Amino acid sequence: MTNKELKIAYTEYDSVDQLEQVDKELVEAAIEATKTSYAPYSKFNVGAAIRLEDGMIVKGSNQENAAYPSGICAERTAMFYAGANYGDKAMTAIAVVASQNGIICPSPVSPCGACRQVMAEYQKKGGRPLAIILVGADKILRFSNVESLLPLIFDSI
Ligand code: THU
Repeated sequence: MTNKELKIAYTEYDSVDQLEQVDKELVEAAIEATKTSYAPYSKFNVGAAIRLEDGMIVKGSNQENAAYPSGICAERTAMFYAGANYGDKAMTAIAVVASQNGIICPSPVSPCGACRQVMAEYQKKGGRPLAIILVGADKILRFSNVESLLPLIFDSI
């Protein structure tokens, strides 16, 4: 028997101004995307923005439904849109932010397990690290790849 430990590396920022310009733009796009959220049940408006390898930005937001499980998170809306429309371009970064009553939530929003799994698959498909930027008004966390948020990824059958 061997006891092992996994470590997660990430960078924490106090403000969006500390980010590199490309990431700052991505965060701004994610904030913009919160405005298209359809969240009449949770009133938790999430926006996501994905950077593609050619620099293009694709946005998505959470879309809820009266049949609750039929709704979908902002991250998967954006990733599936990018996959469906620009499937030949790798996704290199995704920024996620949540707001309530038009105000950005203080703590960074953390993607659900299903979204992390989908991120893992698109990272593998793209063949490049997919950085994840979790945005809160008080702090921003940047992970340089999906493994950092989803260790021991399931990626084959
Ligand atoms: N949600 C997201 O869109 N992304 C996340 O990372 C966390 C949760 C959505 C799902 C649902 O519409 C609402 O937020 C409340 O859970």
